Amino acid sequence: MPRKIVAGNWKMNNDLSETETLLKELKKQVIPEDVSVMVAPSFTNLYAAFESVREHPIQVIAQNMHQSTKGAFTGEVSAAMLKSVGVKTVIIGHSERRAYFNETDELLAEKVNTALENEMQVIFCVGEELSDRENGDQFEVIQNQLENGLFHISNDSWSQIILAYEPVWAIGTGETASPKQAQEMHKFIRDAIAKHYSERIAKETSILYGGSVKPANAKEIFAKKDVDGGLIGGAALKAGDFMAIINAFE
Ligand code: 13P
Repeated sequence: MPRKIVAGNWKMNNDLSETETLLKELKKQVIPEDVSVMVAPSFTNLYAAFESVREHPIQVIAQNMHQSTKGAFTGEVSAAMLKSVGVKTVIIGHSERRAYFNETDELLAEKVNTALENEMQVIFCVGEELSDRENGDQFEVIQNQLENGLFHISNDSWSQIILAYEPVWAIGTGETASPKQAQEMHKFIRDAIAKHYSERIAKETSILYGGSVKPANAKEIFAKKDVDGGLIGGAALKAGDFMAIINAFE
């Protein structure tokens, strides 16, 4: 069975005091036992966040990391640095990293390798642009992103992988993929894993949906067979909304 997961990607939001306030709010809530909850604050607030949730099931994860283990890479953060502040999971391949920071599939494959070598868990993001969908190319785009960025890993490494399907046209736009569109792509991704690896690996991998998930639409999306949870942007910045999404599984 795939794990149910709700992860909040805070992006470049929340300074130190906002991070602590939001976590304080979340810690007051009861997290359902069968849902893994993660939050991804900025690098500068990871340690404070980790300390804040030390005794709590919320996991603190990173939004990005560098592919090299160390060295002269001004402004970058390594896997070892993340691990030293309690981070065990990293988001790789977010469309904002792909689009604004020119992260190619080849670079993302390197990042995945570095994360795996460091025994970290990876949330690997894929997603098509609006033009891809308008041209009917969405499945080919996702297939290529999977093949070029992820499908080089070994069978054994899949226990460290979570997938996130985030159609670029639905991120921060208020426009969500319909539950049907999400299910269709999630099934496509699961079938692709089964074809390339095995039915067992495909069945056990959690595939999250991301893109304008809100309390009002989470239930319908999470109810779909191949949707195992969500990667949440804007709605993860408000404790009430994030909790409502965490509680949206049937
Ligand atoms: P929104 O929920 O704000 O659309 O962002 C989704 C996202 O990019 C999460 O990684």
